[in-house]
Amino acid sequence: QIYSRLLGTGSALPERVLTNADLEKFVDTSDEWIRERTGIRQRHVAAEGETTGDLSTLAAQRALEAAGVKASELDLIVLGTTTPDIIFPSTACLVQHRLGANGCAAFDVNAACSGFVYALGIADKFIRSGHSKKVLVIGAETLTRMINWEERETAVLFGDGAGAVVLEASSEPGIYATCLHADGGHKELLYNPVGVSVGFKDAPNHGVVIRMSGREVFKVAVKTLDSLVEETLAAAGMEASQLDWLIPHQANLRIIEATAKRLNMSMDQVIVTVDKHANTSAGSVPLALDYAVRSGKVKRGQNLLLEAFGGGFTWASALLRY
Ligand code: ACO
Repeated sequence: QIYSRLLGTGSALPERVLTNADLEKFVDTSDEWIRERTGIRQRHVAAEGETTGDLSTLAAQRALEAAGVKASELDLIVLGTTTPDIIFPSTACLVQHRLGANGCAAFDVNAACSGFVYALGIADKFIRSGHSKKVLVIGAETLTRMINWEERETAVLFGDGAGAVVLEASSEPGIYATCLHADGGHKELLYNPVGVSVGFKDAPNHGVVIRMSGREVFKVAVKTLDSLVEETLAAAGMEASQLDWLIPHQANLRIIEATAKRLNMSMDQVIVTVDKHANTSAGSVPLALDYAVRSGKVKRGQNLLLEAFGGGFTWASALLRY
């Protein structure tokens, strides 16, 4: 049996930090409201001209270094993002060239906040099928580019950042199971209304904005994640008691707490970065994973459950031994 083993992780955040107090100065909100409703205290915001590809390249270089793998050894790059630098070439191709990995397959996956876990699931299939031996998986986003800073419903929620992992084909576990799902029936609850065919107009940011019905998304997210974690455990043939860490998508601390409760896990077993990073969409899970590894929390041999829920709706999970 071939497994995908996680060799190394890396991440990158823009230097600029915007605290809740900074936001209070130009949006009708308060530090207290943001902390109580979401758990967010600050977010990193990309500088003028700083792109998803820039953050991805940095995160990838750090992951390759941690893994002891040269870019030229890669035979696949999968990048989860909903904020590509340009529409095409894909950000994966832009990053591939900057890393010096030209020639290997490279493509983007757009599954909004589930983008990284989707990319990980796809990479795992390439490895299990024998197609790929060494794979770079990236989740990266500059979602603040879509924010209307005057709309408090969304302005306080998002941040920018990237995370990456290097996977290798191995006879030892490895990723035990991945689950990927989508339901396109709820588009209007969470979306960006502008694309090449519709929506561009003479408006702030050309009409590009995040539209979200927060309360509805919250409800669907909690319910969906409950069944997702059950499905993932069953697919891996495991009990919740065998999990060492939950590494969830970092959108809202209350959603994270609900999932931990469902799994009977204490919050000491949950990696939380939403306070420092806010919701970095596809960047959030690999950023949290890299933080968990580099801080020494997650150790070799431990079982990790990764999960995410986002626009689409999409939802996805991976259960793996680090
Ligand atoms: N500051 C102060 N007040 C605010 C703010 C703000 N930033 N935003 C909204 N409010 C007000 C509202 O106007 C409302 O006022 P009212 O009661 O007078 O009408 C009140 O606060 C409550 O608003 P709700 O939207 O009901 O607040 P809720 O507790 O649901 O929290 C939140 C909102 C944080 C958005 C929450 O619903 C949430 O986290 N939803 C899920 C988000 C998510 O997971 N998204 C998925 C990933 S994103 C992606 O895929 C790109």
